[in-house]
Amino acid sequence: MAQANPFQDPLRFERRVPPCAVVIFGANGDLTKRKLLPSLYRLAFERRLPQGFAVVGISRTEMSDEDFRKKMEASVKEFLENSPFDQDLWDDFARGLFYLAGDVGDDAMYQRLSARLDEIAQARQTASNTLFYLSTQPSHYGTAARGLGRAGLARGANGAWRRLVVEKPFGHDQTSARELELALHEHFAEEQLYRIDHYLGKETVQNILAFRFGNPLFEPLWNRQYINSVQITAAESIGVEGRGGYYQETGALRDMIQNHLLQVLATVAMEPSAVFEATAVRDERAKLLRSIRIYKPSEVDQHAVAGQYGPANAGGKELVGFRQEEGVDAKAMTDTYAAVEFQIENWRWAGVPFYVRTGKRMPKRVTDIAIRFNHVPHSLFMTEGVDTARPNLLILRIQPEEGISLRFSSKQPGPGMKLRPVSMDFNYGSSFGSRTPTAYETLLVDAMIGDATLYTRQDMVEASWEAVQPILNVWGNRTDDPFPNYEAGSWGPKAADELLARRGNEWRLA
Ligand code: BG6
Repeated sequence: MAQANPFQDPLRFERRVPPCAVVIFGANGDLTKRKLLPSLYRLAFERRLPQGFAVVGISRTEMSDEDFRKKMEASVKEFLENSPFDQDLWDDFARGLFYLAGDVGDDAMYQRLSARLDEIAQARQTASNTLFYLSTQPSHYGTAARGLGRAGLARGANGAWRRLVVEKPFGHDQTSARELELALHEHFAEEQLYRIDHYLGKETVQNILAFRFGNPLFEPLWNRQYINSVQITAAESIGVEGRGGYYQETGALRDMIQNHLLQVLATVAMEPSAVFEATAVRDERAKLLRSIRIYKPSEVDQHAVAGQYGPANAGGKELVGFRQEEGVDAKAMTDTYAAVEFQIENWRWAGVPFYVRTGKRMPKRVTDIAIRFNHVPHSLFMTEGVDTARPNLLILRIQPEEGISLRFSSKQPGPGMKLRPVSMDFNYGSSFGSRTPTAYETLLVDAMIGDATLYTRQDMVEASWEAVQPILNVWGNRTDDPFPNYEAGSWGPKAADELLARRGNEWRLA
């Protein structure tokens, strides 16, 4: 049911986190040490956490509370980006950290957890509110959700809330996504489920909505009449960084496009919702995702390109190929690069290609959205013997140099009418100065408050799988071996250029 517009409710601006405990499954894993604990510590540093607060880490390794605190202290120090570490604050925060060794498949573990949470609720005054966070191996998600349910942990007593945050991937394909959904819903109601897609928590992704719907200037142009094409790039310079085994089974299309980049695309292309509230915003995103054209198997090769990096010497540095990475099969058919031309079949976007690409071992780390407007209808300045004006280009820079720039043509000073592209720039750093919260800080606060606006929803997950599934099927059934087809440290395979050239386009950075 739609709730009241939060913009009309001054109390919502305070966004005060209620007393609660956060229970992390997979406490020994990478995400906990790199993102979750540094984000929680950072929230404590900013005084955003309530007095009554606790964290319970769960994993199989035997460890005491004290060992866990020490381990987390080291991780927070290592991964706290651009933030100071305050020892006194940490010591205080660490008193609220607890650890439970156990196996997600063991019912007795949930009984112990339940007893422990009761003690902690008393000792730390958490009011028994609990946020369970699944950051284990994805194959354990269903087991953990069922284990919590069977132990009665999915329901709080006396008004205490229970919520479950689930990390991506939400399934490996359409079928497994539905299976996971059934397992989650056995004991948890939809309002209790928070499916995290950390791209939605990035300030710059949220700002796309502010830019589009907080300014009357651009929205009238935001359609097929004025926009020629949209490019979304998420390039990473890193390789698979010790995640060879996982990545080999996943690939770029599943790892980045099915979730993060389709969410970004939906944010760029969705209709405005009537209010800024979870159901309304997510309905619009879902509607957009459902408008993506589903390719027939015979169309896939015309609209999607897979790549895999081979070894190279990039700038004097020897880089191994994907197949030589640790944990990767010598014949792995994994896509470490994927480019797809999506088409949105609705009134606003019919005929406008949305080019989405992502890859590991690209020349640099950059995530941005480039919106290319149409050419002027009549080229006035051609008569001067000068090249026609280049089309306007709006670039929304997600990372690392967060900002927005608009390219337009300007008269070059001097005789005649020579045009040159110039740009108007907005930079977060210089405009706002202050440090922006990381996506995990934002999303953790939202889940603790109970605001699911920036979380994804099952219908969105399923629509995204539907859009990529035909491509995965065609790539999965390939009998030839085209890989490797790009050098580590380059902008991807040649075929990706041809994908755009067909409509007279080219990648902006290449
Ligand atoms: C993760 C992917 O979801 O997102 C990683 O599994 C990828 O492979 C990461 O590196 C990128 O996130 P960010 O925030 O660094 O752009």
